[in-house]
Amino acid sequence: MKLKTLILGVSFTALPLIAQEKPVYLNTDKPIEERVEDALKRMTLEEKVAMTHAQSKFSSPGVPRLGIPENWMTDGPHGIRAEVLWDEWYGANWTSDSCTAFPALTCLAATWNTDMSALYGKSIGEEARYRNKNVLLGPGVNIYRTPLNGRNFEYMGEDPYLSSQMVVPYIQAVQKNGVATCVKHFALNNQEVYRGHINVIVDDRALHEIYLPAFKAAVEEGKAWAIMGSYNQYKNEHCCHNQYLLNDILKRDWKFDGVVISDWGGVHDTGQAVHNGLDMEFGSWTNGLNWGASNAYDNYYLANPYLNLLRNNKASIKELDDKVRRILRLTFRTTMSKDRPYGSFGTEEHALAGRKIAEEGIVLLQNNNNVLPVDLSKVKNILVVGENAVKRMTIGGGSSSLKAKYEVSPLAGIQKRVGNSAKVTYLPGYASPAVKEQDVKNAKAPKQTKTDAETLRIEALSAAKDADVILFIGGLNKNNGQDCEGNDRKELDLPYGQNELITALSKVNPNTVVVVISGNAVTMPWVKNVPSIVEAWYSGTETGNALVSVLFGDVNPSGKLPFTFPIRLEDNAAHALGEYPGDSVNVTYKESIFVGYRWADMQKKVKPLFAFGHGLSYTTFEYGKPIADKKKISLDETVTFTVKVKNTGTREGQEVVQLYISDKKSSLPRPVKELKGFKKVKLAPGEEKEVSFTVCKAALSFYDDTKGQWVAEPGKFEAIIAASATDIKGIIEFELI
Ligand code: BGC
Repeated sequence: MKLKTLILGVSFTALPLIAQEKPVYLNTDKPIEERVEDALKRMTLEEKVAMTHAQSKFSSPGVPRLGIPENWMTDGPHGIRAEVLWDEWYGANWTSDSCTAFPALTCLAATWNTDMSALYGKSIGEEARYRNKNVLLGPGVNIYRTPLNGRNFEYMGEDPYLSSQMVVPYIQAVQKNGVATCVKHFALNNQEVYRGHINVIVDDRALHEIYLPAFKAAVEEGKAWAIMGSYNQYKNEHCCHNQYLLNDILKRDWKFDGVVISDWGGVHDTGQAVHNGLDMEFGSWTNGLNWGASNAYDNYYLANPYLNLLRNNKASIKELDDKVRRILRLTFRTTMSKDRPYGSFGTEEHALAGRKIAEEGIVLLQNNNNVLPVDLSKVKNILVVGENAVKRMTIGGGSSSLKAKYEVSPLAGIQKRVGNSAKVTYLPGYASPAVKEQDVKNAKAPKQTKTDAETLRIEALSAAKDADVILFIGGLNKNNGQDCEGNDRKELDLPYGQNELITALSKVNPNTVVVVISGNAVTMPWVKNVPSIVEAWYSGTETGNALVSVLFGDVNPSGKLPFTFPIRLEDNAAHALGEYPGDSVNVTYKESIFVGYRWADMQKKVKPLFAFGHGLSYTTFEYGKPIADKKKISLDETVTFTVKVKNTGTREGQEVVQLYISDKKSSLPRPVKELKGFKKVKLAPGEEKEVSFTVCKAALSFYDDTKGQWVAEPGKFEAIIAASATDIKGIIEFELI
């Protein structure tokens, strides 16, 4: 008996001993910071340095001796990229990596619905998790400065407030999956031309008011666990190792505790990479074959060269430990987190999430005579013209190129929706060269002669007159020089003779509906000749199904433009003031804070083709007179504006009610108005709802570059309730005292 008691006693006291033996860094019940410190103190110098740079195209080492896993990155931002070979860009030809392609981020921004951001983040986060990636290289929030930027489709438009609001739920929802977002490209990467070296000269007001807010929101509100430095330079330092952006603003002012990851090949100097805030180096000078192939990863700027500096006491352990702490924090937040779910991949649920986002993001730009939605009780002969009706848009465009599980083309969507109700004829009307898919080297463009193009055109025109309606589905594509990384567009016009074709089609048949598939604004010289125009973006896997829901009226469109469509390129500030793309060394953002509608609003004579925030519905909305709960507020008070919005049409619809603030007098120049609130509200026919916006001094403030801080100056302001930047529904004056 005594022995039994003794044994029991031993085993009871032994339990805590066993628990104590488990190292703190492996104990998921311990706070992350304790785990970080414990792991750090167990690591050798070589193990620490190894963590700061890549070991393959998309991965970096963990600490194999301690069981700390590798980090695996994936593009981003529209779906989980197909696997590539160890240190090549070439596809690895896996058969299990076909993902759900989600709509482009321009489309997400066009929903003006933060619930859609959360849905997007949840879905793509689950896909990343399932594929065992712990860092998603996205979302992108570089501001739309020029419509020529080849990567605008990967970003969230021209307005810092809209992109800030939209990026936060995306980040939070992704990270719930134990997958870090890596918000990119920090910062001032607003063009692809000269992107690897161009030095951006921008004043502090524009930097803080226009180009940084979405990143700041991503860090401070979204709590992003990683951020990607950009290729370009600022203050003559590459942004991947930029003292001012990374150490001063990001890490000191915003208290970012995550990892700064370089863009692929964005590191140029060991000293700067060590001292100026970079934590992880990726993609430097190797193709794994004949170029930098020998011990390539050991020769990264943050590999042997860094070790040498450390061994010679030319770099401090303190600095190294700061990098490693951040990387370990990433690990404990992701791969070594006990709360990490398992994810899911290529599911119907994800496809439907993408479809819903696309349906909410598609923008009805113009709809004269209610030609849309197509009424199948009257329309019996539909002619579909345009290459984008059949072109796969999930492929191409650069690093966001995807191997989608499937992609419903617009034509397939139309054919399925129409069934036997009408005859559907398809003719391309024009042709572009083949998409140069990133993973397929030397893709050959089919030879296109003038006769081919002419034949396609004539074919389409001769079929046009017999159609009850023409659905022209064109726009841009993911070819180099279109919506594609690595280059910018050469012009604002639609390519491949589409303008001439649309004009000619509309002459033959007035019922020509134009669907633009793009991530950028385009000119529309035919705008008055066609009744209806739709901006359909790149919508991913469910493209065709989402588009037909809108075209045939199963879904009432509710998207609004996240950027201005100028009539001509010269109506855009960067081009009006002549600083694009710079002289190859520098580009000066002479337009300062007057980007997008902030510029358009100042132009007396030229109005935009379609304004920021514009988008129509198949129903109509009536706005009441807005009211405010106060006429005067002090700096620490808030004011609430309320407006009644009524659906005066015959079908349910959603309206995006927008609040802009106008500062009537200020010591520094200010935009005519700035977006400071928006709400998407669903209304049944005849239904009326009150929409309220509460703002505080942040909405009234500007960045005073003389003081280096945000200030709200006392004086008169206006709250402008609007349905777009040019469709103002009501104005209320108030005063800051
Ligand atoms: C792009 C990044 C991308 C990375 C990895 C770079 O060229 O700029 O956005 O995440 O490649 O593919």
